[in-house]
Amino acid sequence: LLLGIDVGTSGTKTVLCAGDGTLLSSKTVDYPLSQPQNGWAEQDPEDWWQAVLEGIRCVLKKSGGDPRRIAAVGLTGQMHGLIMLDRDGAVLRPAILWCDQRTERECRRMEELAGRERILEITGSPAMTGFTASKILWVKEHEPALYARCAHILLPKDYIRYRLTGEFATDVSDASGMQLLDIRTRRWSEELLSIFDIDASLLPALYESAQESGRVSRKAADETGLVPGAIVAGGAADNAAAAVSAGVVKEGKAFTTIGSSAVIYAISDHVRVDPKGRVHGLCAAAPGKWSVMSCTQAAGLSLKWLRDTCCAPETEQAQREGVDVYTLMDRLAEKIPIGAGKLIYLPYLMGERSPHPDPHCRGVFFGLSAMHTRAHLIRAVMEGVAFSQLSCLDVLRELELPVGEMTVCGGGAKSLLWRGMLTDLYGCPTDISLSDQGAAWGAALLAAVSAGLYQSVEQAVAATARPGHCLLPDRARHARYLPYYQLYLKLYDQLGGSFK
Ligand code: XUL
Repeated sequence: LLLGIDVGTSGTKTVLCAGDGTLLSSKTVDYPLSQPQNGWAEQDPEDWWQAVLEGIRCVLKKSGGDPRRIAAVGLTGQMHGLIMLDRDGAVLRPAILWCDQRTERECRRMEELAGRERILEITGSPAMTGFTASKILWVKEHEPALYARCAHILLPKDYIRYRLTGEFATDVSDASGMQLLDIRTRRWSEELLSIFDIDASLLPALYESAQESGRVSRKAADETGLVPGAIVAGGAADNAAAAVSAGVVKEGKAFTTIGSSAVIYAISDHVRVDPKGRVHGLCAAAPGKWSVMSCTQAAGLSLKWLRDTCCAPETEQAQREGVDVYTLMDRLAEKIPIGAGKLIYLPYLMGERSPHPDPHCRGVFFGLSAMHTRAHLIRAVMEGVAFSQLSCLDVLRELELPVGEMTVCGGGAKSLLWRGMLTDLYGCPTDISLSDQGAAWGAALLAAVSAGLYQSVEQAVAATARPGHCLLPDRARHARYLPYYQLYLKLYDQLGGSFK
C-alpha cells in the first residue's frame, strides 16, 4: 500500500492506494488561512500536521487498510511557503504562504543586489513576491530577533516530512520554487545565497522526487499509526506531482488545470527560461526533466466570484433541484454565441502572474451593453479565462516548447463547455485522465518508485495511466474566437499602465 499526502492551501488531502495505483480511500481535512493584513496570507504548520494525523486515521479506517502494509509515503503540497524552525525544531512564526504579497520591496532589493537577468538565469523566474527567497529576506528585515533564532527553513510539505522522519529535507521540484536553487544543476546556488546573505546551513537537504528521503520514526509511528521504518519519498511540489498524476512526464505533454487559479505545466528535456519572465522555469519530478509553468491567479475564482455576486437565481434553483450551480451556469453560457456579444473579461481579480507579472492589475468587463444578460457575463468570464490560458500557451510556443497533447484537470475540467473552449482555442486535442486523483495520487506514485515498485517515474505513469475522453479542436470555431482573443490581448496592452 502507498500513502499520498497533499498539504494544500484550503486543506490536506490524504489518499491510500494499492501498489498498482488503485485508489482505496481518500480524506480531505480543511483548515483556516489567516490574513492579518491586506495582501498577507499565513497558516499554522501545526494545523497541517493535525490534518495529516486525521487524514491517515480516516483513510486507514475507511479502507480497513493494515498500516503494516504501507511501504512508502509520498508528500506534496502548496509551493513557496516559508516555515522557520529553531534549533529544537519548534515553529518560530506562522508560515508565510505562496499567495502572500507583502514582499514587493524585497523583490526589488533582490534584483538590485543580484540583477534581474542573473536571478532569471539561475532560478528560472524574476524575483517573485510569491516565492520563498523574498519572504526570507522580509523576515530578516522585519523580524531580526526571530531570524537570528532560525535554524531550519522548510517548505509546507517538508514540515510534514520533518514530523514524520525528523529529517530536514526537500525535493528539487519544490526547491526550484524557492528562488535559491540553480535549476540547471539542481543544487542550491552558492552565488545567490552569498549575495542575499542567507546561510546555506538553514536550507534542507535536496533529493530527487522519487528518491528515499527518510523513514518514519518511532515517535511518528506512535502518533500516526504507521509502522516505523516506512519509506518517505522526496515527493514534489503540488504542480509537479499533479503532472505525474495526469501522466505528464515527457516533452510534448502538458496539462492545464483550472482550480481557483489555473496552471499550464509542460515538461521540457532541458532548462527553458523565458527571457521576459512571463512563465516559470522549474525542475520536474523526474530526474533530468524540467518544466515550464504559467500561473493565472483568478481562474475558477473568477467564476466563483460571478456566482456569488450575480447568480443568486441559479444558486437558489440549484438548491431546489439538488444540482450543481455551475451546471446551471454552464447551460446559460452554452446558449450564448462565441464572443459573448463582444463582451470581453480580463480575469485579474487578484492581480496576475502569467503572462503579465503584475500584482496591481485588476479585473475588467469591456464592452458591456444594455443587451447583455447574466448569461453573457458567465460566457465572457469563461472565455476570458480560456483566453488567458491561450496567452500563456502562446508563451510556451514562443519558447519553442511543443505541446502536442494537453490534459485538462481541476474543477474546470468538469465543464465540457469550458474544456471545449480551451480545445478550440489551443487548436490541439485535449483529454482528461481517468486515473487523475490530483497531486496526492501523484505523490503516492512517487512513493511507489522510491519503494522499488517501479523502475522510474515514467514507468510508474505508463503502468497506471488511464486516458479518458478526448476532444478534438474545431477549426471554424477557432477562427471565430480569434478576433475576440486579439481584442483581449490588446486590452491589457492598453490598460496595463492604468491599474497602479
Ligand atoms: C505555483 C503556485 C501555486 C501553489 C498553490 O507557483 O504558487 O500553484 O503551488 O498550490
